[in-house]
Amino acid sequence: METLFLSASSPETAAVAAELIQKGELVAIPTETVYGLGANGLDEKAVAKIFLAKGRPQDNPLILHLSEAAEMDRYCQNVPREAYLLAEKFWPGPLTMVLPARDIVPAATRAGLPTVGVRCPDSDITRQIIRFAGVPLAAPSANISGKPSTTTAQHVLHDHSGRIAAVVDGGSCRVGVESTIVDLTGPQPRLLRPGGITLEQLQNVLGEIVVDKAVVASVDQDAVVKAPGMKYRHYAPDCQVIIVDGDLPAAAAYIRAQYQPGNRVLCFEEELEAFAPFAPLAYGREEDPDSLMAGLFAALRELDDPSIGTVFARCPLGSGKALAVQNRLGKAAGFRHVNPRQKNTVIGITGGTGCGKTTLLQCIRQQGGVVLDCDEIYHRLLQEDEALLASIEGRFPGVVEQGQLQRKKLGNIVFSDEKALRDLNKITHKAVKAEVVRLLPDTPSLVAIDAIGLFEGGLAELCQVTVAVTAPKEDRVQRLMARDGIGEEYARKRIDAQRSNEAFSALCDHTLENRGDICAFRAKCLAFLNEFGIM
Ligand code: TXA
Ligand code: MG
Repeated sequence: METLFLSASSPETAAVAAELIQKGELVAIPTETVYGLGANGLDEKAVAKIFLAKGRPQDNPLILHLSEAAEMDRYCQNVPREAYLLAEKFWPGPLTMVLPARDIVPAATRAGLPTVGVRCPDSDITRQIIRFAGVPLAAPSANISGKPSTTTAQHVLHDHSGRIAAVVDGGSCRVGVESTIVDLTGPQPRLLRPGGITLEQLQNVLGEIVVDKAVVASVDQDAVVKAPGMKYRHYAPDCQVIIVDGDLPAAAAYIRAQYQPGNRVLCFEEELEAFAPFAPLAYGREEDPDSLMAGLFAALRELDDPSIGTVFARCPLGSGKALAVQNRLGKAAGFRHVNPRQKNTVIGITGGTGCGKTTLLQCIRQQGGVVLDCDEIYHRLLQEDEALLASIEGRFPGVVEQGQLQRKKLGNIVFSDEKALRDLNKITHKAVKAEVVRLLPDTPSLVAIDAIGLFEGGLAELCQVTVAVTAPKEDRVQRLMARDGIGEEYARKRIDAQRSNEAFSALCDHTLENRGDICAFRAKCLAFLNEFGIM
């Protein structure tokens, strides 16, 4: 189908759009928050088209848009006094109230819930369309599910051209992020989504308000959340977004150290100059949260490009309208924050083979951390560090031939002579530690030192915190056999030659036990990093 482009200022638009709505078609509408993908909210078939066009999960209910507050009682029952107060104060405007639904609202609109979200948008043309159509409009944000919301008619066409009946162009959305949602159906009012009406404004009317956990942190996919939409990955461009906290000098130092060609920086206008070498894109002014809300989605859409790799984003602090920006940007980043620090944060990681240290190291790398793998460093030094080879040759004459360490020869000496092994370790530990110190980043970073000999090598002294990764022995045997293609007996021998899980745990500040479920273990690693303020 061809998507009609209707201008809000054209006199026929309201009538044309209303007729399409009555026929059960989809019409994208402007509001003060974001563009909505509207349909007759009382018509199950029309509503089904919305879910199809957006690729929206069926368990995510829609908001009903009203032309005036008086319509609230038609679709909601047992409406509390507070709802009328809020409507009086904030409607038309960027506030959605969740209230007990009447049966007239089909299950498809409210995704089977006994409640319904209602709001009266601050857009003359859209309220006129609702009045002309004579039905409330069910309208989610008009983006494809999971993508940044649409704040211009062009965004809508980008996502839905040819697949919806019409788009009404009302220019750029004034607020720029979706409405504040407050749930009035529980024992206490609950903020489900922050937006242009702030928590503080609501508190002035309602008193105490519970802030839902989904506002400020990731929510498990399986979790039962009050606003089902809050659990999905959202607003996310097709590249990784990392929020870089901290003051400008610390953030700039961090980004300079991490930046790869093609990466982008999403920042405040005030910071454009400081980030000039890193392809910055400003989304508004830090001192003006309204401008940040208004510019965020257009900026995220501009950055929606898998070739970018990573976007380092700056996020405003504080409450009020900043909360809405923190929530949307947080969701785009999977709530991944880094805190550039004044000095390196060094974590020592140890444990036997096959325990799953790699999973923890991956989590650290994902936080922008640097991993120093001491086994790799050791083998590299044996290849290229002439001073080290000279020391070894000095203690064990004849084991270096033409600059090459004869490993077998050395092995034969040290494995039958404990004193010789101690001497060799002393030499190699010193060299590895010196190399680790040399490799510590100059700009304050998160660093992991990965070493089976973390303590005997003197490396633990470089760490603020040490972690033992352990796993049940039988799991380790299976993992080693699969990973290294070795037989069971040999796998057991290798494990038995190392320190036990308990011994590693006793040495370290913390233990992370891997019980075999990789997802659970990953979550455990992330929780640990979080708890220690490492990410
Ligand atoms: O500003 C807005 O609210 C925009 C414009 C178009 O009005 N609409 C919008 O709709 O943001 P949508 O569908 O993208 O987000 C609606 C959110 C979802 O997170 C959904 O789970 C939640 O509201 N929601 C809707 N009905 C609900 C209900 N009965 N109980 C709890 N949450 C509800
Ligand atoms: Mg949405």
